[in-house]
Amino acid sequence: MISHLRYSLKYIRYFLFAKHKKGHSIHSPFVYNFITKVLNNKTEHKNLIEVINIHNKYLKSKRYIEFKDIGAGTNYYKSKKLKLGKIVKRSSIDKKHGKLIYNLIKYYDPSNILEIGTSVGISSAYIAQAAPQSSFISIEGVEEKIQIAKEISLKLNQKTEFIHGNFDNTLNSVLEKYEKFDLVFFDGNHTKQSTLNYFNSSLEKSHNESIFIFDDIHWSTDMEEAWEIIKINKKVKVSIDIFRMGLIFFKKKLSYQQYVIKF
Ligand SMILES: C[S@@+](CC[C@H](N)C(=O)[O-])C[C@H]1O[C@@H](n2cnc3c(N)ncnc32)[C@H](O)[C@@H]1O
Repeated sequence: MISHLRYSLKYIRYFLFAKHKKGHSIHSPFVYNFITKVLNNKTEHKNLIEVINIHNKYLKSKRYIEFKDIGAGTNYYKSKKLKLGKIVKRSSIDKKHGKLIYNLIKYYDPSNILEIGTSVGISSAYIAQAAPQSSFISIEGVEEKIQIAKEISLKLNQKTEFIHGNFDNTLNSVLEKYEKFDLVFFDGNHTKQSTLNYFNSSLEKSHNESIFIFDDIHWSTDMEEAWEIIKINKKVKVSIDIFRMGLIFFKKKLSYQQYVIKF
């Protein structure tokens, strides 16, 4: 209850004070392009419509999924039986942010993508749909959720590599296999320390063109504290807070700046 109230107040503050929805008064061409070509891109390609249709279908799914859930910041698995539609509604990306990730990938064209937190594969579907030629790995701790993600991936004819395992044990071995990651989407285990651990490990594989996206940066004080630390990391040049998500860019030629942009 208190956290709902806290979140709503945070949102009102963001809504009132966030700026630059149209990119006016932004001096950085890089950020201006991000706003006009990614955030405000309203085109809906056939590929995007395909994934939105699947998303809508799974939102309505009355199928029950029984699984052992992993709690934030723990190794403790709790048994649950939930309607698939409810899982999608509660813990998957919404369509607005799904389209944003799709547009972002189309625009920046990353070749190596990592997602930390698949759930049933809704955000994975948007990512893979935007980057059919890229290498894309998604990690999830609950096997039953990966099965659904694979089902969706198959329906869309995608080639995502899903990895089952606790991030704490699997992330480093996944990172070790790759020289670099161009895009990392952090969307699981929303505690401050875990988020910072995953960020610091992934940082080793970042480069000038990398983009990191963090979901739920205002979800809790823990996540807000993690976001505050992330955006002042010395490798980070530009951070963009769009309330639900925070994005960071590493381009050395950019001047250091923190933005809060209305989306
Ligand atoms: C918010 S959901 C991901 C949603 C997904 N990215 C989407 O938008 O469709 C977070 C997922 O992280 C998984 N998770 C949380 N902590 C984990 C951990 N320590 N290891 C592996 N998976 C974990 C949960 O099981 C959950 O499915």
